[in-house]
Amino acid sequence: MTETAKLIIGEKTLEMPIVVGSEGERGIDISKLRQETGAITLDPGYGNTGSCQSAITYIDGDKGILRYRGIPIEEFDHRKHPNFIEVMWLLIFGRLPSEQELAEMRDALTGQAHLHEAMKHHFEGYPVNAPPMAIMSAMLNTLGCFHPEIIDPKDEVQFKAAIANLVSKIRTIAAFTYRRVRGLPYIYADPKRRYCANLLHMMFSMPHEEYHVDDEIEDALNLIFILHADHEQNCSTSTVRMVGSSQANLFASCAAGVCALWGPLHGGANVEVLEMLERIKAGGLSAEQYVEMAKQKDARLMGFGHRVYKNYDPRAKVLKGVCDRVLPKLNVKDPLIDIARRLEELALKDSYFIDRKLYPNVDFYSGIILRAMGIPTDMFTVMFAIGRLPGWIAHWWEQRQDKSSRIARPRQIYTGPVGKHYVPMSKR
Ligand code: SDX
Repeated sequence: MTETAKLIIGEKTLEMPIVVGSEGERGIDISKLRQETGAITLDPGYGNTGSCQSAITYIDGDKGILRYRGIPIEEFDHRKHPNFIEVMWLLIFGRLPSEQELAEMRDALTGQAHLHEAMKHHFEGYPVNAPPMAIMSAMLNTLGCFHPEIIDPKDEVQFKAAIANLVSKIRTIAAFTYRRVRGLPYIYADPKRRYCANLLHMMFSMPHEEYHVDDEIEDALNLIFILHADHEQNCSTSTVRMVGSSQANLFASCAAGVCALWGPLHGGANVEVLEMLERIKAGGLSAEQYVEMAKQKDARLMGFGHRVYKNYDPRAKVLKGVCDRVLPKLNVKDPLIDIARRLEELALKDSYFIDRKLYPNVDFYSGIILRAMGIPTDMFTVMFAIGRLPGWIAHWWEQRQDKSSRIARPRQIYTGPVGKHYVPMSKR
């Protein structure tokens, strides 16, 4: 017997079925609401509105739970944890890959690491101080122009080719962006290096010397990408689904996801965290003073708070462990890290934050670790995009495979003028 919800509006009573998810979440199916009552719901920011049913990621914000295809993310944080490509496969195909499938995907990624040589000239067209996320979104769309045969994958063979193309080349685009801005020669991928090590190689190595990637750094970057890989219907993933719902191709949908992620309240927050720490240091402020400013709403404690997590973001917990493990090994002495730790210590015991359930989120620590790795602040959100790409692809494909999915077209409540008429210029 399906549980229902009753809505009484005017003379009408509408009974609506309740959809129950595999973790017991309940959603009131309002798909008949407007047709039956003429009314719509109103939910700015969609905090109470489900856009779809999905089997990819589960979050329990109250309990601080995050699971990829049912696997808790904490299980990815151990010395023999899987690599980012395994987790990418899990998110996209719904299961862990066999050894052969992983080897085939790795070979495909290696074979797809280069860009069409004509694309190199695109980088030269940007101003040297162009924001890397602007270049990234444009270049993902441009990739589609060079690969028309897989831009809109129709079957699994084309889809796997598109995955390899996007997931491999996003690194090259990121690295070439970093090199171009600094006037450095482009470094091509090294087929002997793994996914994360190759990104660091393309970003930081120089033609005249050997480049060694520290295992700790490679491991930390691999874990950062895993932790960023998906987060159900966050702003950028919802954007990818929205764009994909019009049957826009995979490359254009992911390019739109980059634009949404760029926002300082979303993926841009890790940049905002570092800029906040810089401001505190440069202004000679104490952590105590800044926390007071945040409480007076004269500032925001960037990296704190989350629309869904009203508990510690489980990713922040894992990243805090990476900080504790990696920074001492890198012998990093960074006053910004000390400020961050003091801010966290103060906020976690302050009623302003406790009452509002504001805890550190993924961005609070990711920026600190990326900085310790020598990755410049303007590349932080690009790193987030590299990590989140598998989640975008997984959701685009899940929606594309769902034959019942329709073009996303929310309604509105009009509050503008009524009964107006056109006034010819002579009478204005
Ligand atoms: C990501 O959605 C996802 O899943 C995103 C993400 C992902 O993986 O895709 O997890 C990645 O985007 C993480 C969030 C990164 N953003 C930040 O760290 C920016 C700082 N945080 C906030 O701006 C804020 O917490 C949001 C945007 C994250 C959430 O905003 P909400 O849910 O709309 O909360 P709100 O703005 O309504 O705030 C509720 C109260 C307000 O105070 P009151 O009006 O009740 O007195 O909390 C206060 C806010 O002023 N508040 C903060 C605060 N965040 C909220 N006060 C100080 N510092 C903060 N960071």
